[in-house]
Amino acid sequence: MEKEEILIIDFGGQYNQLIARRVREKNVYCEVVPNTISIEKIKEKNPKGIIFTGGPSSIYADDAPKCDIEVFELGIPILGICYGMQLMAYTLGGAVKRATKREYGQMEVSLDNSSKLFKGFKSSNICLMSHTDYVDSVPKGFEKIAKSNTCKIAAMQNLNKNFYGVQFHPEVNHTIDGDKIIENFVIDICGCKGLWKMDYFTKTTIENLKEKIKDKKALCALSGGVDSSVAAVLLSKAIGNNLTCIFVDHGLLRKNEVEEVEKIFKEKFDVNFVKVNAKDRFLNKLKGITSPEKKRKIIGEEFIRVFEEEAKKIGTVDYLVQGTIYPDVIESGLGKSSVIKSHHNVGGLPDYVDFKEIIEPLRDLFKDEVRKVGKEVGLPDYLVNRQPFPGPGLAIRIIGDITEEKLDILKEADYIFRDEISKSNLDKSLSQYFAVLTDTRSVGVMGDERTYDYMVALRAVITDDFMTAKFAQIPYEVLDKISKRIVNEVEHVNRIVYDITSKPPATIEWE
Ligand code: XMP
Repeated sequence: MEKEEILIIDFGGQYNQLIARRVREKNVYCEVVPNTISIEKIKEKNPKGIIFTGGPSSIYADDAPKCDIEVFELGIPILGICYGMQLMAYTLGGAVKRATKREYGQMEVSLDNSSKLFKGFKSSNICLMSHTDYVDSVPKGFEKIAKSNTCKIAAMQNLNKNFYGVQFHPEVNHTIDGDKIIENFVIDICGCKGLWKMDYFTKTTIENLKEKIKDKKALCALSGGVDSSVAAVLLSKAIGNNLTCIFVDHGLLRKNEVEEVEKIFKEKFDVNFVKVNAKDRFLNKLKGITSPEKKRKIIGEEFIRVFEEEAKKIGTVDYLVQGTIYPDVIESGLGKSSVIKSHHNVGGLPDYVDFKEIIEPLRDLFKDEVRKVGKEVGLPDYLVNRQPFPGPGLAIRIIGDITEEKLDILKEADYIFRDEISKSNLDKSLSQYFAVLTDTRSVGVMGDERTYDYMVALRAVITDDFMTAKFAQIPYEVLDKISKRIVNEVEHVNRIVYDITSKPPATIEWE
């Protein structure tokens, strides 16, 4: 296959991996590289096109990130986005100025749709602007190809050199059809054919891991979720038995989950699989605890302790594998917003295991890309398409204190809910759905008997990013069926309610 690569030069923008993702969506391989990359290295990579990302700096700042100016002499098409466009304009002799106010938000931008970059667009489009500096005059050889009310040069091109710049962000959804601009650049302007597939990622990642780790040892904490499972399989394909996966069964997983994970990893993959039966330890620690945050803390700490004890048995390992994916990296990177729930705890280096280095093979991927990789390496669909499940598990779906009896009730009710959702083919359209065991009991009647039993709440939401979510409008007939089955099949439940709050103001989990 002809090598087709787009090189993304990173100037510190927050959407950089999103640009990479957009390029990958067009089936073109790309790499995000630091702005300090040498010209020799760029030449070696011989990309079909280069994208300069945005970034928070002003081109006039002392420490403004630049790149080797020889990049403009390579005869390779370049697209500069936001800061990337300003850098291009400034370096090639245009003028960049500082506005008194930052322009931020979705703006109507007039486009010159005779430009190859805007092929297929109407003469105006909604685009996301986020900048303070702006290009005041284009360099020689360039012409302006877009403007808005507030930004007189919103895009520019140099047809001879195949250089393009856009002040707005085509990589985000807030720019309508922005991905089409990336496609125009990558396919039409750079001439990529779009033959690359995710399996290339899988193959090269496994090869690179093999080369890096050689015959050393790696350790992975397997949660049974998509990310850690995919990371573990990649590692197992690279180093086989030199990978040990520790799966801590804290007793707070869903019905059948422990057995499923165990079966897959023991039967299908060549790894050292260690299952730790720690249910009693966790339940003991959680006895009488009702505060959601305390539950999280106890589970987090106990998890570390169990993991540490198991790791000690293995001795020194060279590498610790984590299933961090790109959205985790962004979330932990921001770290400024106030803590609503303390679950976004990636990035904290576990100092409890003696290891040399952390390996995060999925660090640059988005969830759907991780799922694709998971499929490719042979994980079953039900695991790969698994809905998100919180680390503290069912503990935060039992309101109030946790007992074994309550856990059993919730596992059964949740299982029936999931079963009926999948039988009604609603599972693909829901982002997350689960049962909650409330601490409310109410009076009911079953047969001729008065009951005083638990109320189970059902929660189902639709969301892209889990930051906001809408409650799902599950048809009444389906709810009816679920409700009947739960009260009939699960002892000590006599009432079912459906949660009709969106996020905000509610959160997705009840605790
Ligand atoms: P909330 O309840 O904050 O949930 O709207 C948003 C997403 O995060 C998941 N979640 C957690 N994940 N540990 C986790 O690993 C936690 O403590 C935790 N709390 C919530 C939740 O399931 C949803 O997908």
